[in-house]
Amino acid sequence: MNFAVPLFLFWSVIIPFGRQLPALAYIHHYDFVVKETNVTKLCVEKSILTVNDSFPGPEIRVRKGDTAYVNVHNQGHYGITLHWHGVKQPSNPWSDGPEYITQCPIEPGANFTYQVIFTDEEGTLWWHAHSDWTRATVHGAIIILPKEGTTAPYPEPDGEEVIVLAAWYKGDLMTELIQDIVTGSDLPHSSGYTTNGELGDFSNCSSETIYRWSVDYGSTYLLRIVNAVVNAELFFAIANHTLTVVGMDGAYVKPIVTDYILISPGQTMNVLLTADQPLGRYYMAARQYSTEPIADTGFDHSNATAILEYNGDYNLSASPTFPHSLPLYLDMKAGKNFTHRIRSLANEDHPISVPTNISTRMFITISMNLLCKNITSCNSLDTDHMIATSMNNVSWKNPQVDVLEAYYRNLSGYYTSDFPDWPATMFNFTADYYDEDAVVTHTGTKVKVLNYNESVEIVFQGTGLLGGSVNHPMHMHGHSFYIVGIGYGNFDNETDPLSYNLVDPPEVNTFGVPKDGWLTIRFVAKNPGVWFWHCHLDRHMTWGMDTAFIVKDGGTEETSLRPPPPNMPQCTGVIGVSVQNPGDDGRDDALTNSS
Ligand code: C2O
Ligand code: CU
Repeated sequence: MNFAVPLFLFWSVIIPFGRQLPALAYIHHYDFVVKETNVTKLCVEKSILTVNDSFPGPEIRVRKGDTAYVNVHNQGHYGITLHWHGVKQPSNPWSDGPEYITQCPIEPGANFTYQVIFTDEEGTLWWHAHSDWTRATVHGAIIILPKEGTTAPYPEPDGEEVIVLAAWYKGDLMTELIQDIVTGSDLPHSSGYTTNGELGDFSNCSSETIYRWSVDYGSTYLLRIVNAVVNAELFFAIANHTLTVVGMDGAYVKPIVTDYILISPGQTMNVLLTADQPLGRYYMAARQYSTEPIADTGFDHSNATAILEYNGDYNLSASPTFPHSLPLYLDMKAGKNFTHRIRSLANEDHPISVPTNISTRMFITISMNLLCKNITSCNSLDTDHMIATSMNNVSWKNPQVDVLEAYYRNLSGYYTSDFPDWPATMFNFTADYYDEDAVVTHTGTKVKVLNYNESVEIVFQGTGLLGGSVNHPMHMHGHSFYIVGIGYGNFDNETDPLSYNLVDPPEVNTFGVPKDGWLTIRFVAKNPGVWFWHCHLDRHMTWGMDTAFIVKDGGTEETSLRPPPPNMPQCTGVIGVSVQNPGDDGRDDALTNSS
């Protein structure tokens, strides 16, 4: 899938990595030039932000335990940051990337070198921009091979293919986004989905091109699938072919044999496919899984297609077969059926360690809300409020100096450490609830502070506030976590824990909290630093469904936050075009009363 990448330097140097790691670790260097590139899609020529002129962007290819240095040159018009989604970066949040959380943006004309430290990840992850919605076109796959001398827990495939699914916006996304934020209107909706940069055969423009993948009959391939879509979970299927999911989010899972997958934004899946069907052409197709109320029909209904084509002689005039196994947009049953089958591989070679002695428990509601536009006149729920989102009724607001810098330098006035462990009020969370007190939220920059090595359990409870209950793919930086429980309705803390899976729960970095339901996760906070967590639907992230946690130092050099690299981008003290809800209810003034 990757085309010529002109400015792409790559070399490897062998470095013996010390006592703990018997195998060699390699160092890789990449140059990423972020700049505008002209592209024509849906019969419209427009300019998009890319890395090295390619959409999707270049692949990063390493082995488990390697380190990559990526020098990002910003030749675009906006400040930008890059994030290495799912890479834990031990003690090194300085290179994690989310803007105003761990760094300020790299200004146009400037550059910054990220040090991306791989440890236990193996399989597929991805990288993406982490400033506003620039990630729509600034993203690419990260391929992590097993260490030399070790193999993946399945027979060596004959070939590999990377499939990056993304969203296409016909207009100028950043302009529209900023305008919508300023006016408090709904945020942009996509005009189509792409497979490796192509919309495929069912778009509204007859000159549209399609991505093709050729296979040999009898061969088995490893598909590395990335959902880089801005705002949609996707079903994906390949006509007449069986998929075997073997990995997810850079960890192995028990093989799932299926004729479709459901993949959330942020997630990556490794899938085996054997080309065992009659020679011919078959559509690989993706469409949105919408969990919005059925009356909300404003989502992107397009079908993204690519073609799997066999090498050999056959009738090329027949049109490719469409996968009838691809579920329809609202098929909740298909969504649940797939999700509930995901289990860690959890064998001797790939053990898991689910914490059982929990030291910190949190119960967090995730909601759609309303936010007062302007504190002086907040009478009408309709006209004086705009849409917001929250976690435990706090709607995240970015600080002007990133949380990491403020924490490291002990600067006060940028964040507070009082993110609540519990919602302020208990109500029937999963009922469609419009009560004003529950619906209206407030902004804040509240973080959760954890001691090093704390065992954390979080129950995420989805709510039906504003009648807006949907799946929320929650993503955590710096850690992976175990999904020990998932269920529907209001969480019951007596009966629901009885169903927890502590044997082979999936270990992931992004997972959907189900519509009208709850999700329990566990992890050990053993990565010192500041780590963002948020819904990976960017519309919800922008509206405030975010927070950060600080993991304190553990007392030794190895368990402590590293000092910053010398060339960190400087905070200008002005949140440029950063498009977060401008709403201000006057309640977050803890942030302005010092320095
Ligand atoms: Cu995939 Cu906070 O990111
Ligand atoms: Cu969400």
